[in-house]
Amino acid sequence: MRRIGVLTSGGDAPGMNAAIRAVTRTAIRKGMEVIGFVGGYDGLIDRDTMVLDIRTVGGILQHGGTILKTARSERFKTAEGVEQAVQTLDFFGVDALVVIGGDGSFRGAKELSRRGIMVIGIPGTIDNDMGYTDYTIGFDTAVNTVIDAIGKIKDTAIAHNKITIIEVMGRHCGDIALYSGLTGGAEYIMLPEMEMDLEGLYEKINAGIERHKHHCLIIKAEGVPISNAELAAYIEEKTGQTPREVVLGFLQRGGSPSARDRLLASKMGSYAVELIEQETGSRAIGISGRELTAMDLDEVTDIKREADLELLHLMYSLS
Ligand code: F6P
Repeated sequence: MRRIGVLTSGGDAPGMNAAIRAVTRTAIRKGMEVIGFVGGYDGLIDRDTMVLDIRTVGGILQHGGTILKTARSERFKTAEGVEQAVQTLDFFGVDALVVIGGDGSFRGAKELSRRGIMVIGIPGTIDNDMGYTDYTIGFDTAVNTVIDAIGKIKDTAIAHNKITIIEVMGRHCGDIALYSGLTGGAEYIMLPEMEMDLEGLYEKINAGIERHKHHCLIIKAEGVPISNAELAAYIEEKTGQTPREVVLGFLQRGGSPSARDRLLASKMGSYAVELIEQETGSRAIGISGRELTAMDLDEVTDIKREADLELLHLMYSLS
């Protein structure tokens, strides 16, 4: 193996740069060349490249976003797009491709793998929604960003005795809500993996009021099937109080990666090159406990992530 391609795809996640750096520096130190494709799979289709060497990946470890840019490519979903991508890899003499991204990006990677290209997937998404790995790169930073926001919102909620709905990202996965709700000291969490229990929410608010606690922070994952306005109307009808609504949005995707995310990205990026050196065939890198794992790329996208109910119970016993 002499030349490795790298791209980032899907929603950006803090730590993607750390992974690009680790892939590049490990590969170069093993005598390989690295070529970056700009803008996810679109970069493969358009032959938009960036030279990656020891220096170009200098000074990026601490930055969110991705120096390779990213996109959710619609063109790559077509047979023509995949064919163009395969031709590009052939044109540049790329022996193996590293794809840093989430579930959708891995599905794209599988298409290339089926065409005989060795692809290594590194899980990069703030959502932590990939069932085959304990953690994805970017999740820890996003949770830290959210608990910082929760702390600030809590100050003013306590000062004004306010019920506040805080909507966090995560698509169909409630992990950002669960981890940030527990570690941020929220009163209630709403996860897409759980059945909605509005009566239970009202009881929780009421139990607080009976203990002379007049604020209540509700962390609602974006995948929960009720709008913030509907939820606010329900709370208003039951309590007579108009809740505040805060949608944290894209600030959860940016920022300097946490030490945990930099570590995870560095380990996974370096491991990707080792797998390429060993010519293992296409793999998805994950982490289980302290061990990195390398599963067959074909198998991982169907593994569903379950919510950690123990964490949920802990959260309620402590709130
Ligand atoms: O997958 C990361 C994520 O931020 C999700 O949490 C969110 O649902 C989605 O991306 C937003 O996507 P887009 O960037 O396409 O608006």
